[in-house]
Amino acid sequence: MTVGDAIPQRNWGDWSGLDPVKPLALARPRTTEDVAAILKFCNDHGAPVAPQGGLTGLAGGGRPEENGVALSLERMTAIEEVDPVMATMTVQAGAPLAACQAAAEQAGLFLGLDLGARGSCSIGGNLSTNAGGNRVIRFGMAREHVLGIEVALADGTIIRSLNKLLKNNAGYDLKQLFIGSEGTLGVITRCVLKLQPRPAYFASALCATPDFAAMLELLKALRAAIGPGLTSFEVMWPSFYDFMAAKLKGVKRPFAQRHGAYALIEISGFDQERDLERLQEKLADMMERGVVSDAIVAQSEREARELWAVREGVSEYSQILGPITAFDLGLNLSRSGAFVEEMDAALTRRWPDVIALSYGHIGDSNLHLVVHVPSAGAHQPHDEIVDMVFAAVGRAGGTISAEHGVGLAKKPYLGLTRTPEELDVMARVKRALDPNNIINPGKVLTL
Ligand code: LAC
Ligand code: ZN
Repeated sequence: MTVGDAIPQRNWGDWSGLDPVKPLALARPRTTEDVAAILKFCNDHGAPVAPQGGLTGLAGGGRPEENGVALSLERMTAIEEVDPVMATMTVQAGAPLAACQAAAEQAGLFLGLDLGARGSCSIGGNLSTNAGGNRVIRFGMAREHVLGIEVALADGTIIRSLNKLLKNNAGYDLKQLFIGSEGTLGVITRCVLKLQPRPAYFASALCATPDFAAMLELLKALRAAIGPGLTSFEVMWPSFYDFMAAKLKGVKRPFAQRHGAYALIEISGFDQERDLERLQEKLADMMERGVVSDAIVAQSEREARELWAVREGVSEYSQILGPITAFDLGLNLSRSGAFVEEMDAALTRRWPDVIALSYGHIGDSNLHLVVHVPSAGAHQPHDEIVDMVFAAVGRAGGTISAEHGVGLAKKPYLGLTRTPEELDVMARVKRALDPNNIINPGKVLTL
């Protein structure tokens, strides 16, 4: 247990941009039993506990309380087993996602979960937030990669449910309760992950289209032509692509002209020659029909990385833009194009110098919007921007959080996306599992 000034600043908060908070104490247990003992102690004394993984969360879920304990899983990083016959992996919750990915590949298998923060985020954090990322279109969100889970509850009870079976309908599927609950119902200590056959190749392409409507045509056509081989479909509006390509150092723009929209596509599979031929044919056909204006297929891993550089440049926002208001919206694809136009217009009317970058995992109906008002400097009109965007999301019937979760940042707006009945049941579940409200109190819901 670390207390006072010895607590590293790293544990005061996450990547949400919310003000950091120094907790009373930092606990870094090595075993599930220790996690359970800490929870029980805090429960008995009414001390709030903030579970922490890699602290890359963007909603404030990992930020501790001033009068509470930060419970970091950073010492629980063991990859305990890879089972090649069951195609599973059993790991401790603090294991970094990248380490899990590497261990799966070493065993000739593949973990389908991937996101930009792979080197820093932990698998326990990925599960507790039901993280999404770049390959959801093919492999689903974190939830879909989990077969078994071990959780410590507020009262110190340990639920050992390290199931490896693909099919197991014996009673309630309790793990689903903890996945995506952002550490408010229990602390995930270990898990069994479902692995995939390791694809023989990955290939990336950058496609330009005249507008967003054409982008949806391209998505439909590639789904039909490539099937499950389509592992990413990331769209970047010119507001994002042109801005980031100009600001990021050493980025090559592969197209001579500017276009209405850009899509970064990844395909993978087991017959590279045949699949690439099919992709080239489909793109040529779409170009002939005017749906695609230009396209480039990476010829090497280096070229693929170059194509992804602009998309992955989002990690540089703080250097490029300074303070931002960032969104992680979910919208029906039939409304996304108009939504982006509506937001661009409304934001520019209100703040003529606004920078509003639109991009996202459009194959998963997940739109990211990043807003910065240069004239506002350090005092961004955060609340006004959020009110404006979330009101429009509500009108469009979308969700205020597609993949980043609610934490503290989006809690006041949950009612725009969830019904009173849904919120009431969430509160009832929380009270049943954590009656003293000690695990991540005040996150996701106000009781
Ligand atoms: C992304 C993260 C921030 O898609 O969700 O870049
Ligand atoms: Zn994302």
